[in-house]
Amino acid sequence: MNVCKTHLPLKNFLFILGLAFYLAEVKATPSKGIYDYGDVLHKSILFYEALRSGDIPEATNRIPYRGDSALDDQGFYGEDLTGGWYDGINHVKHGLPMASSVINLAWGMIQYKDAYVDAGAWEYGLESIKWATDYFIKCHTAPDEFYYQVGTKQLDSTHWGRPEEMDMPRPPEMVNTTVPGSDVAGQTAAALAASSIAFQTEDPAYSTTLLEHSKQLFTFANTYRGLYPGTDYSSSDYGDDLCLAACWLYYATNDEIYIEEAENMYNEFQLHKSTWAYYYNDFKPAVQILLYQYTQNAKYYESFTEYLDKWLRNGSVPYTPKGLAYLSTWGALRYAANTAFLALVAADLGANPVTYRDFAKTQIRYMLGDCGHSYVVGYGVNPPERPKHEASSCDDMPSICDFTDYQSPDPSPQILYGALVGGPDINDNWIDDRTNSKTNKVACDYNAGFQSAVAGMLQMLR
Ligand SMILES: *[C@@H]1O[C@H](CO)[C@@H](O)[C@H](O)[C@H]1NC(C)=O
Ligand SMILES: *[C@@H]1O[C@H](CO)[C@@H](O)[C@H](O)[C@H]1NC(C)=O
Repeated sequence: MNVCKTHLPLKNFLFILGLAFYLAEVKATPSKGIYDYGDVLHKSILFYEALRSGDIPEATNRIPYRGDSALDDQGFYGEDLTGGWYDGINHVKHGLPMASSVINLAWGMIQYKDAYVDAGAWEYGLESIKWATDYFIKCHTAPDEFYYQVGTKQLDSTHWGRPEEMDMPRPPEMVNTTVPGSDVAGQTAAALAASSIAFQTEDPAYSTTLLEHSKQLFTFANTYRGLYPGTDYSSSDYGDDLCLAACWLYYATNDEIYIEEAENMYNEFQLHKSTWAYYYNDFKPAVQILLYQYTQNAKYYESFTEYLDKWLRNGSVPYTPKGLAYLSTWGALRYAANTAFLALVAADLGANPVTYRDFAKTQIRYMLGDCGHSYVVGYGVNPPERPKHEASSCDDMPSICDFTDYQSPDPSPQILYGALVGGPDINDNWIDDRTNSKTNKVACDYNAGFQSAVAGMLQMLR
């Protein structure tokens, strides 16, 4: 007898066939459904909201333990420098990591807009970067003038507590024609150009404003060349920053002048040279990827694949037993996340797509729980509870918050949702210790490549 043939309607047969294909698909993509990348994306955006300095709009503030702070931040001549993000580990507003964060965030939003929109995170993402770009515009007080920092690490180190209660001096620091800073001004120009693309549809007027500031900053950075005098975050080169700005200006304007400039700078500054890590101090791999995207020239492809390949198993970057590509005891997760993001973008351009996506997936999954627990505050299994972050270590007002809270072995009273902490040692060991900067530091630039890689993961599952 043949029951199936006579009694199973074609519709059911097709349904079962479809289910079989669906299950095969799930099996081929084991990450599907295990981690909620949309949730992680939302939480990472919340982390940036927790870093907000300045006048916080009460109606939309989603961080209950945060309010207005540093409302007196100003330039040498009284210019309003309120706003922007605190660095994370302290309450200084550092231009270099802030700009690099905006570059990586805006790039991820441009590349994975569909994922952001699907997750209902697009508007939040725009608001998030706007907090930083509004501040950059304030800091750009004249065509050839840019305030790259407010506060110093040293003055800040005397205080542990709420930013709302700070009383130490917060001096401004500027680059201009006599004290140039092609690195920080170039990186900010790149951040503004990339952001202008993200805002093109929703807010064309703001997009144009961002682009104008970007062009002026790029000209300033390129005309008055030199390394910025900042010491808290140092920069060893400015060629990569200038070239990156030219790349993003080309992306934003389609003006051939910028691609010519970018290719000339690539040669002038020897930007094919090898890179230790992709982070605020080295944008060479980003430049190589963008120039390949625009020109399809194989020389750029060779350079960025050389960088990415060293991160693969059997490359020169060592792996922990549980599978994290481990570059440095300081913020190991940040380096792996940044490179995971680049690997996803490279894969989108057709570069070793299976291998590079698989690399990114294993790294991001490690951070979200594959290693045995989550490294993202407020997300997943057994996440960090003691990030090195001042505001979230404080009880609700009006309790006193000071170094006692820093030293406290207790979990932080507030949850710093979405923050990616520094990470483990090379053997996957990690202790949830607020006083340990290597393991528990959080920072605006730690989350940026990570957030964009998470958006890329979400895009893959669409
Ligand atoms: C240029 O920047 C330097 C270093 O920050 C500063 O000392 C100087 O006052 C600035 N020049 C002007 C005209 O503001
Ligand atoms: C790494 O190298 C070893 C030894 O050459 C080889 O057996 C292994 O398959 C390689 N692994 C990968 C992921 O390429």
